[in-house]
Amino acid sequence: AESAEAWVPDEPSLDRIRAALPACRGCELYAPATQAVGGAGAADADLMVVGEQPGDHEDREGRPFVGPAGTLLDRALADAGIDPGRVYTTNVVKHFRFTTRGKRRIHESPGREHIAACLPWLEAELAAVRPTGVVLLGGTAGKAIYGSRFKVGERRGVLADWPLESEVAPSWVLATTHPSAVLRARDAREAAYDGLVADLRVAAEAMA
Ligand code: URA
Ligand code: SF4
Repeated sequence: AESAEAWVPDEPSLDRIRAALPACRGCELYAPATQAVGGAGAADADLMVVGEQPGDHEDREGRPFVGPAGTLLDRALADAGIDPGRVYTTNVVKHFRFTTRGKRRIHESPGREHIAACLPWLEAELAAVRPTGVVLLGGTAGKAIYGSRFKVGERRGVLADWPLESEVAPSWVLATTHPSAVLRARDAREAAYDGLVADLRVAAEAMA
């Protein structure tokens, strides 16, 4: 199966990850994308927040969560009382997957083969940052950690043990909705936002 493994440094630090990521050819998503987008934030963060994949803005700028979903995420973290200086933010898949319609690039969710191929990068980031807790944003992040039957609605808002075998497991993991899902919830946007903040408050308490 396709895998990023051959490109991931053996003893990962954030600097080594940053240097190695642009060369990754672990799956076919590198080809149409502008660039790989790694994580950003505190190297010694207590909390790692994991999204799906870079979006259109992130693909162009090379940084995670710099578009509308990122703006909403920043606000939700602040409303939950989480200090941004204690957070490292990244994505399960490091290249933007999209289809083209005219001049527009339309987001397409990564497939399970892309999620599996890219997971060694997230494991390397976990080994480098060693956060106490991990927040999984939405279905793709949840599937990466819990498998393809994961459903956000069944698991959100509760602290759980890290389910994967790992020498660098965080103390807890918490799933919640993705900020893009909040943006898509037109009529119910406020309720969806409040739900996200309520879940993040559980993480904030675990960090206190
Ligand atoms: N959505 C994500 O999941 N990640 C980003 O970086 C931006 C939007
Ligand atoms: Fe490598 Fe992940 Fe990009 Fe695929 S999506 S090429 S595995 S960095």
